Amino acid sequence: MENFTYRNPTKLIFGKDQLNVLPEELKNYGKNVLLVYGGGSIKRNGLYDKVISLLNDAEASIFELAGVEPNPRLSTVRKGIEICQNEKIDFMLAVGGGSVIDCTKAISAGAAYDGDVWDIINKKVTATKALPFGTVLTLAATGSEMNPDSVITNWETNEKYVWGSEVTHPKFSILDPVNTFSVPRDQTVYGMVDMMSHVFEQYFHNVKNTKLQDRMCYSVLQTVIETAPKLLEDLESYEHRETILYSGTIALNGTLQMGYFGDWASHTIEHAVSAVYDIPHAGGLAILFPHWMRHTIDQDVDRMKNLMTNMFELETEGKTDKEIVLEGIDKLSVFWSSLGAPSQLADYSIGDDRLEEIAEIAAREMEHGGFGNFKKLTKEDILSILRASL
Ligand code: NZQ
Ligand code: ZN
Repeated sequence: MENFTYRNPTKLIFGKDQLNVLPEELKNYGKNVLLVYGGGSIKRNGLYDKVISLLNDAEASIFELAGVEPNPRLSTVRKGIEICQNEKIDFMLAVGGGSVIDCTKAISAGAAYDGDVWDIINKKVTATKALPFGTVLTLAATGSEMNPDSVITNWETNEKYVWGSEVTHPKFSILDPVNTFSVPRDQTVYGMVDMMSHVFEQYFHNVKNTKLQDRMCYSVLQTVIETAPKLLEDLESYEHRETILYSGTIALNGTLQMGYFGDWASHTIEHAVSAVYDIPHAGGLAILFPHWMRHTIDQDVDRMKNLMTNMFELETEGKTDKEIVLEGIDKLSVFWSSLGAPSQLADYSIGDDRLEEIAEIAAREMEHGGFGNFKKLTKEDILSILRASL
């Protein structure tokens, strides 16, 4: 392992009816609260009314930023910063999925920064101050509820960047599996693909002696693979929503990434694809990840084989390690397709006309963000992964 320091200050409040602790949690902060949410799912499923009632119990003055987009935009972040500054907001409450939470993080850092928030998002400066915020998670996927990271898209320049800082951990996150019952089937699938991809990104590294971390990775993957088809049979199963919700948090709250930093190339390429085409994040991952695996197979066949044989029952008799890995990658694609995830860029009507541009954006970010730690990729490598994904 490499030396590491781990600190996660987010208070995780998990389980049925845990939303009721909201007034108690809010006592630690001022009264002017900015409620941040998305395109209306929380109004349709009744969560909005519950949150408003609890905010009233806490005697909060409520301000709202509604309409945060999936793949949240810089323009919406700027709107939120303006509200924070004009209304002297003390605390923000994000109610939604990863997009709402990521947008709130950017507002929190931007509102406490004198310059342009884009400096923080494109990592020119590191945020050192932020407005405090909490979250009520409604979709199991990103882990944003318990990590400091945020992903924001600038549509003027077609750039989508992940950034984060010590000061952008949520103060608390409330996770009630019931609040994820209304997540539609396709978003439920994307969420599970995303959390599996987070485990892959962390698992792929070249650091020696990470036995326990490897086994924790296998365990999260086995749990999601076993639960996914059951959940899709019954989207309102408390038991399966609970398992998947907890898996999503563990997959990206730093627990799996102690003692090394993973690869993150597939995420970097996907962010570049969705910066140009605005497709769902994990739809892109389901398409790209198997091709990244095939492209990097020779980097450490043994490590790939251990992953595949811990995820799937594979026929290994008389086969080389590489053949076993290739069979495992095929199984992964078949598994994701069986859930209903897309398998090629054509599923989003993406052709080859802007691949150069996407590869250029991804290559720049790979270098700048320090990604590609398992296998360094050049722009040509990225292009070849994208072409294979068409
Ligand atoms: O906007 P509303 O109306 O709320 O609808 C949302 C949205 O349309 C809907 N939804 C959420 N909860 C629901 C629900 N619909 C019904 N019932 C509910 N309970 O689902 C749609 C997608 O929501 P979104 O928040 O975009 O999904 P997700 O949580 O997958 O977040 C995706 C974003 O997170 C970034 C991605 O790049 C993307 O921008 N990521 C953030 C990460 C992080 N902060 O650590 C890591 C990830 O790798 C990822 O890159
Ligand atoms: Zn992701």
